[in-house]
Amino acid sequence: EKTVTLRTLRRMKKEGERIAMVTAYDYPSARLAEEAGTDIILVGDSLGMVVLGYDSTVPVTLEEMLHHTKAVTRGARRPLVVTDLPFLTAHLSKDDVLRAAGRLMQEGGARAVKIEGGEEVLSAVRSCVAAGIPVMAHIGLTPQSVHQLGGYLIQGRELESARRLIHEAKQLEEAGAFAVVLECVPEELAESIAQTVSIPVIGIGAGRGCDGQVLVYHDLLQYGAGSSPSFVKVFSQTGQSALSGLQSYVEEVRSGAFPSEEHVFPLKSGVLERLYG
Ligand code: KIV
Ligand code: NA
Repeated sequence: EKTVTLRTLRRMKKEGERIAMVTAYDYPSARLAEEAGTDIILVGDSLGMVVLGYDSTVPVTLEEMLHHTKAVTRGARRPLVVTDLPFLTAHLSKDDVLRAAGRLMQEGGARAVKIEGGEEVLSAVRSCVAAGIPVMAHIGLTPQSVHQLGGYLIQGRELESARRLIHEAKQLEEAGAFAVVLECVPEELAESIAQTVSIPVIGIGAGRGCDGQVLVYHDLLQYGAGSSPSFVKVFSQTGQSALSGLQSYVEEVRSGAFPSEEHVFPLKSGVLERLYG
């Protein structure tokens, strides 16, 4: 199977082949995502919420993103692995942006970075692209700005904000982004953006007209993430299955049913007698 590259994604958009993207945060989730055939794995800063227990993505650091990126890239070869630039990073000086993005690639093994924001991150996008760092953009609901936005709310419902999103998608394409994530926007708007730009538009809560879809691993597998947004479809009850396995384990340890004969190592015959003989 061939490695997914920017060229693969361009071809998929051109041929109307939908792109399947999912987040992953560690070695086993990356292995499974690859085995399932996903095209893009995102080491999302959503890891702050779903695996580190923070209440937003704001506290997530570059060191944490690196740590998880290393685990993911050890587990997946074929999919394009993209890592989020954490909170604030894209707004630092050009040198600092390049240093952070560069570390995610050189040390982490990511093959691209994702940057949240529109107009205000264009220069960061340009700097990365000029340095050979592929950039995936992310507009609409941008969770790093949750405190500014006042919550996880649908974006682009009104004329002005819809216009702004279309404009930003075009600007990001011009700045060299190879794809754009559109989060939580009305279906018709997302579809028209996907038809307007020539780079793939990957939707999350953005309807059926996008060139691809992305969901958070722990949401779609219902794995310990608590309640998920309404745009999430639950594809398996992983948390439930893990919980019932753990409950059986605890029960069997308490009752003595585990370990049983097949899980123990017997001593050679005669040894026990001679041990205390
Ligand atoms: O961090 C993340 O998981 C994301 C996706 C939801 C797009 O940014
Ligand atoms: Na993110």
